[in-house]
Amino acid sequence: MSSPETQPTQHNGKLYIETVGCQMNMLDSELVVAALRQQQLELTDDMYEADTVLFNTCSVREHAEHKIYSQLGRLKFNKRKHPQQVIGVIGCMAQKDQELIFQKAPHVDLIVGTGQLGEIPRMITEARSTRSRAIAVSLGRKGASRDEVASSFESYDRLRDPEMRPSPYQAFVRIMTGCDKFCTYCVVPMTRGPEQSRPPSHIRTEVQTLARQGVKEVTLLGQTVNSYKVTENGKLYRLSDLLAFIHDVEGIERIKFVTNFPKDMTDDLLQAVRDLPKVCRYLHVPAQSGCDEMLKRMKRGYTVDDYREMMQRIRATMPKCAVSSDFIVGFCGETEESFQKSMDLIREFRFKNSFIFKYSPRPFTKANELWEDDIPEDVKRRRNNEMLDLQNEISEEDNAEFIGTTVEVLVEGPSKNDEKGKIENTDEHKRQLVGRTTCDRIVVFEGNPRLAGSLVEVDVLDCTQTTLIGSIVTGHRTHGLQLELPVIG
Ligand code: 5AD
Ligand code: SF4
Repeated sequence: MSSPETQPTQHNGKLYIETVGCQMNMLDSELVVAALRQQQLELTDDMYEADTVLFNTCSVREHAEHKIYSQLGRLKFNKRKHPQQVIGVIGCMAQKDQELIFQKAPHVDLIVGTGQLGEIPRMITEARSTRSRAIAVSLGRKGASRDEVASSFESYDRLRDPEMRPSPYQAFVRIMTGCDKFCTYCVVPMTRGPEQSRPPSHIRTEVQTLARQGVKEVTLLGQTVNSYKVTENGKLYRLSDLLAFIHDVEGIERIKFVTNFPKDMTDDLLQAVRDLPKVCRYLHVPAQSGCDEMLKRMKRGYTVDDYREMMQRIRATMPKCAVSSDFIVGFCGETEESFQKSMDLIREFRFKNSFIFKYSPRPFTKANELWEDDIPEDVKRRRNNEMLDLQNEISEEDNAEFIGTTVEVLVEGPSKNDEKGKIENTDEHKRQLVGRTTCDRIVVFEGNPRLAGSLVEVDVLDCTQTTLIGSIVTGHRTHGLQLELPVIG
């Protein structure tokens, strides 16, 4: 959030925005704020005093939706005191629940789906002047032809707002929207619409703009990013071609991409990651389960053997490439044996880390239609904890192998633990800094905060399950910002 001093004095009111969910949502919020700032809206951290409140929502699990309804509940009484406040629910929940949100929370003014985010500035202005409610959502996936549905989900990639990014040196870039995989548990094909890839020339221009704003690392986003495929000027671009196409953008030091779909992890892509030095040796490829029956029920389109074959190709092409995964525990019909097979998969492939989720039944999905949510909550919780313990043990053992080595780190800035007052340090040039290796491992070390945005070498001295702990190599090699802002002290 920005400080009041940096804001223009003349403004059209205060905006409070809260974002839950994935990186795609973080990017959407950045773009919405950039557009609203053009209308001189100023950001505030105070939801109750804001003139406009936006919730950018997630529907992947029920819990994320409950959080939003709780926040809306808090605003209900406030709106009696502050009737001019415009409240908008935007993003996945808006697309999924549509008018239902007005029924559950009648004080909401705007409902705007993921494919209509460009409408928000106009809708806020109209809501303020007419005091009437408005809704803008895309067509349902069964409501019309695929092309008609696709064109009702407009890709929203306009202005960028550096202030909304977690770090000024890192930015997300959308390369595709939507998903056509229809895994049986997942609501995303409904909330984000059909799969559509953006033209490479648009993506390259955006990366160039970001580089001029000082961005060093771009993360390309797509629900199934490695399914990227588009023809421009008669040439077919796959993700491997796109990586090569943006690789020479000056100022960009690192390129990452998430999230990969196992079946689309082709050799050309692995070779591109191996051969293009700016592309990070890190692949997030969710397995979801280690049991063939579960994978079939999930309609993932691969077996454990297929996943194994993919892992073998990754390891053969890049022995040191880090791989991370997602797992769902307690999916409909998951027996203790099925669960143990997922545990075996983690033991076999030793993922760098895994995101583990308890199955949450979602409306409009096949699984919800066909099968009972038959695994009790306490069993889901136990499986979740057991899996987390196993993964943490593996992550720590793998991190320990880095002790005694030197790693290259892109410095993000002072660590969360080193906010003013938490760590006593009399030397302001030596703060606890945090950054990441090319294989996406978090590294903390002491250093000058001015190193943020540069690449430095760090000797690894110790580790935890999640973090490498090190000491900066003096006389290190650096790029970028350091040339403009010499390190003092
Ligand atoms: N319940 C639990 N987890 C889910 N995910 C997607 N849908 C569900 C659901 N209904 C998980 C998957 C996906 C991650 C982003 O969220 O593991 O990879
Ligand atoms: Fe959901 Fe499956 Fe698409 Fe991922 S690939 S967004 S899990 S439907």
